[in-house]
Amino acid sequence: MLKGGKLIITGGAGFVGTNLVKELISLGGKVLVVDNLSTGKLENVPSKAFFCKEDILNPTQLLEIFKDFKPAVVFHLAAQVNVRDSFRNPEFTFKVNVEGTENVLKASIASEAKKFIFISTGGALYGDRAPIPTPEDFSPSPQSPYGKSKLEAEKLLNSFKDKIDIIILRPSNIYGPYFNPESNTGVIGIFISKIFKKEPLEVYGGEQTRDLIYVKDVVKACIKTLNLNQYEVFNISSGKETKIKEVLEIIKKKVKLVPKISFLPLVEKEQLRSCLDNTKAKNLLDWRPEVNLEEGIDLTVKWFLKNYG
Ligand SMILES: NC(=O)c1ccc[n+]([C@@H]2O[C@H](COP(=O)([O-])OP(=O)(O)OC[C@H]3O[C@@H](n4cnc5c(N)ncnc54)[C@H](O)[C@@H]3O)[C@@H](O)[C@H]2O)c1
Repeated sequence: MLKGGKLIITGGAGFVGTNLVKELISLGGKVLVVDNLSTGKLENVPSKAFFCKEDILNPTQLLEIFKDFKPAVVFHLAAQVNVRDSFRNPEFTFKVNVEGTENVLKASIASEAKKFIFISTGGALYGDRAPIPTPEDFSPSPQSPYGKSKLEAEKLLNSFKDKIDIIILRPSNIYGPYFNPESNTGVIGIFISKIFKKEPLEVYGGEQTRDLIYVKDVVKACIKTLNLNQYEVFNISSGKETKIKEVLEIIKKKVKLVPKISFLPLVEKEQLRSCLDNTKAKNLLDWRPEVNLEEGIDLTVKWFLKNYG
């Protein structure tokens, strides 16, 4: 499916999208990135990829682009991803993440794409009552409008599964190269960029846990889905639970700087624990995370220093 195959990546100029697009191109795919550049960066789109600056909230233009390119596969990543912004503006978050997903899905079906891969969320989906590690079949109870919008989008996709192969990936918290230092999302990226900018670090809580997965491992899972021809939902995660305080200690060790840190009370409604069971992806996708947290943070710090240091 990959060599010479046509793929559209919405949100392909963003953090995860950039890593995915680079890998798809290196495997011989013909890639079109559709992105409105609201948080993504054009300079991160490889020159071998086609690029179209478009908003997923414009269904007519989207349809034209898709019919023109005729993708075999669509990876849908474009989203309003900032959890704190989603509390400030839930309507906009729902519009982009649900209506936008519907537009991309309908354009994919109309252009006769064979496969639709949706990057949902695992980290913000299950809620605080979930067992640890959380399996895919636990009934989600998201706490943020961001998580709720992704759940709504998943339900929408489920109702279209007879029309196109749909695979839903629920990644935990992703970190790694090409994170956006200005975006204020992703705990590891925020810590690394603030430390190097010599800005004081504000840590809300510290005892809360996250399941941190290196972006290249997520990309590998995305590639594995290309072999699958049935509707499935997968957690994509390290399966390990790490306290934010512990993450900070690893980063401090790698950056070899002493940051100024203030510990502040936990933000209301912030999830306390998150750790996802990745057994299903291991068994059905023949995928497993390969980069551990120490290595992944080391690679991320090196990437940051090379590009921003
Ligand atoms: N980063 C994580 O920890 C994480 C974890 C789980 C799931 N995800 C999911 O992965 C996907 C990518 O996230 P990311 O971290 O790379 O975020 P990002 O903000 O870097 O990427 C999102 C991309 O979508 C584009 N975009 C946003 N709204 C758009 C619109 N209306 N029309 C067209 N393009 C639009 C942005 O310009 C950006 O390039 C998202 O769907 C997100 O929900 C991310």
